[in-house]
Amino acid sequence: MAFSLSDRYLGQYVSKFDLAAVENEAKHAFELVKNKNGEGSDFLGWVNLPYDHDMVEYERIKKAAKKIQQTCDVFLVIGIGGSYLGARAAIEFVKGNLYNDKKKDTPDIYFVGNDISSSHMRDVMDICEGRDVCINVISKSGTTTEPGVAFRVLRSMLEKKYCKGANERIFVTTDSKKGALRPQAEEFNYESFVVPDDIGGRYSVLSAVGLLPIAVAGIDLDEMFEGARAAAEKYSKNFYNNDSVKYACLRNILLRKGKCIELLASNDPSMTMFCEWWKQLFGESEGKDGKGLYPASVIYSTDLHSLGQYIQEGQRTLFETVINVNVEDDFVIESDDVNADGLNFLAGKTINYVNQQAVLGTALAHTDGNVPNIAMEITSRSAYEFGYLVYFFEFACAVSGYMLGINPFNQPGVEAYKKNMFALLGKPGYEQATKDITERLEKLAK
Ligand code: PA5
Repeated sequence: MAFSLSDRYLGQYVSKFDLAAVENEAKHAFELVKNKNGEGSDFLGWVNLPYDHDMVEYERIKKAAKKIQQTCDVFLVIGIGGSYLGARAAIEFVKGNLYNDKKKDTPDIYFVGNDISSSHMRDVMDICEGRDVCINVISKSGTTTEPGVAFRVLRSMLEKKYCKGANERIFVTTDSKKGALRPQAEEFNYESFVVPDDIGGRYSVLSAVGLLPIAVAGIDLDEMFEGARAAAEKYSKNFYNNDSVKYACLRNILLRKGKCIELLASNDPSMTMFCEWWKQLFGESEGKDGKGLYPASVIYSTDLHSLGQYIQEGQRTLFETVINVNVEDDFVIESDDVNADGLNFLAGKTINYVNQQAVLGTALAHTDGNVPNIAMEITSRSAYEFGYLVYFFEFACAVSGYMLGINPFNQPGVEAYKKNMFALLGKPGYEQATKDITERLEKLAK
């Protein structure tokens, strides 16, 4: 496996005594996940997912993906949060962040319903003009406002375009029984897939939620599961020599030493959405009861020319976890007779060689600047690595959350903005809240 974790830069920040001091609580947290008896344990379906998923549905997903590839130019994936980030992260991780712009025999894929922007919707509608379109609407509850609004608009576009034929172009991923999309799928005969009851949104990328869009992009699902299984073997069975648990320990130790922001950094733009997925995973899992690391992300070397200054010399509350993408390449930098840029000393070197020196130089500079560095490395961006990394971080997140003393599987705080928004929008059932919020806003306007 081409993944490694190293604490080589952490010497001055985390000692073996620090690690020994958290061993018991880490072991307890590990066992809560393994034995499924911690808080929120009814949402641990993802732990065995690499070994145990519905194979009938899995084959149906592959078949649906083929049909979508053959019948559309544009595939619209509607969903938000856990019903969106994993699939997009996978596609950009494996296929690169310019996937849509590349020549390929798979459809362009656009993610919609993850905001409430009318201009984004207009742009997507324009992109669909004159092209064949299929939709995958993904929502466990089926009542989330953002994807709900997007689905109304886009379904109507599809119905105008294809009349009854629209139904064959709509694919639904929702809860097996409770999801509000379920009766619609049945009424209109949309092909549908199940979000398992025991898997929450942010842990759902290896379920039907992620699988259909990932397969439509031409990514090998079997290979992705092979990677996830290899990680499950390594991290979910034994406490000792377990890098996923070690990562959970390191980040908790650093938090307790005042490093309250974790920057996930990577040196390849194809990792941008992976970082977004990771931010949701850790932010929504750990940020509660006044606790948790704030998860942020940067892409190097791009962000070294913007946030780099802050990381080097701003408030000393950061540590970074760097996923070094160290992939061989054949872009050899040529010598230039004029050498106006003075870069001839790089002639004969590859772009990745330069990238690797940037990673190394940055790690040393940041470590010297009191930004501890947890160093990870991958040597390929295949489906296998994606599955592996997903499992590595999911497992670490569950252990880390239990070490923090919170339930890593709920998200009570997400409701607060929704309550206000529904009150302002006049949703039935929110009458008192509407009255209260209107009075409050009137007072604020005075
Ligand atoms: O991780 C989560 O549980 C959330 O991010 C949800 O996935 C998100 O709110 C979307 O919910 P739903 O799938 O019900 O539309």
